[in-house]
Amino acid sequence: MENKNTIKSIILAAGKGTRMKSETPKVLHKIFNKELLGYVIDAVNNTGMAEENFVIVGHCADEVEAYVTKNYDNAKCRLQSPQLGTGHAAYQAYEDLKGFEGQVLILCGDTPLITSETLNEFIKVHNDNNCALTVMSAVFDDPTNYGRIIRDENGNLKAIVEEKDASDAQKKIKEINTGVYLLDWAKVHEAFLNLDSNNAQNEYYLTDIVKWTIKQGLKAQSYIMSNNEESYGINSKKHLAQASKILKDRVIEKLLADGVTIVDPDSTFISPETEIEADTIIYPCTYIEGKNKIAKNCKIGPFARIRGDVELAEGVKIGNFVEIKKTKIDAHTNVCHLSYIGDSTLGSNVNIGAGTITANYNHITKEKFPTVIEDNASTGSNSVIVAPVHIGENASVGAGSVISKDIEANALGLTRAPLKILKGWFDRVKK
Ligand code: UD1
Ligand code: CA
Repeated sequence: MENKNTIKSIILAAGKGTRMKSETPKVLHKIFNKELLGYVIDAVNNTGMAEENFVIVGHCADEVEAYVTKNYDNAKCRLQSPQLGTGHAAYQAYEDLKGFEGQVLILCGDTPLITSETLNEFIKVHNDNNCALTVMSAVFDDPTNYGRIIRDENGNLKAIVEEKDASDAQKKIKEINTGVYLLDWAKVHEAFLNLDSNNAQNEYYLTDIVKWTIKQGLKAQSYIMSNNEESYGINSKKHLAQASKILKDRVIEKLLADGVTIVDPDSTFISPETEIEADTIIYPCTYIEGKNKIAKNCKIGPFARIRGDVELAEGVKIGNFVEIKKTKIDAHTNVCHLSYIGDSTLGSNVNIGAGTITANYNHITKEKFPTVIEDNASTGSNSVIVAPVHIGENASVGAGSVISKDIEANALGLTRAPLKILKGWFDRVKK
């Protein structure tokens, strides 16, 4: 069954993240140059059902809000100040959701590994079982610090108890609350008016909506997720490094299955938003971040860096110590060694000589300029292309040139001081 319903989400991101020991708010730390919060919002949006997302901000609210507003049309921030707990956090979207008839997905902004596939499955289970509330749970060997899922004698969900409020017997329970919830808003919203802070942490616990729902005679269940990794929350730089590794391995595994050759998965980093077709070979120590599209039969690396917004057609070669950014390259073009190509469009069968640099940036005005190099053109080694520049079809750039004007098709552009040869130099110097 396909889910056709629309949902709204509440993403909790007001907490401080003290253990990151950073001036950057926790949810704005990055993996592959994309913010943790971005992964979560994207996962929600990629369910194909998200109509509107409310991000609850508190610590460094302005910075987080600036990021959200800049990058997401369907996300709004709501301020939680002071921060009185997860229930109080979610409540900050209460007014916005007044009268909403659909479902509300609640999750945390620091869990970048959650996938839209898992969220879709979660939503489907909620719908199939006609639940008013579904909690995503996981079974952990070490459940320390998590809220525990309490079930009655028939195995039905009864409550969630936080570690600090749990009895010794409850602490032994290994099924934990991942912090992801789906609510039929019309049925469950009143739970937020009934939260209290009578607990060990004196906080308004979001988890208490479970007890309320059950007390109303509504159906609440827990859905045990199959891949625990996805619930992984980032609280420290160690967690961030671990999550990066998990994400990177996940991407590489998928690319290998799709037929991409990755010579050394351990030293290769490829962002999840990079598409690569089969029979392309990625050599060791290659770092690919951002959104990119790489066609079949390309060769990348070793030691290449692709920085995003890069599109490579079939059979392109990107060699060692080459950096490419925001560039489109047509079929069978080579950029084989020691080059920087940015803000450029390269035709097919172009040959970029070793050490070619597109000078695309004016440091004083902070502007960037484009370079266009047409089919079959070539640049000699160590040439600097001072953008904006257009190099025509079949044109050549002589080695060591600084090209600051357009070169027409079939022409040679060359800036070179004449070569002097001083005969007998060795003997003159020796005397
Ligand atoms: C919470 C759950 C716990 C669950 C765990 C999963 C509660 C009471 N407990 O615990 O059952 O196992 O998550 O990771 O919900 N936040 C705010 N405002 C606040 C407090 C928190 O926005 O006032 C945000 C944090 O930024 C974070 C998320 O809510 O993104 C979870 O907060 P955190 O303090 O990590 O919750 P836990 O105590 O770990
Ligand atoms: Ca806490």
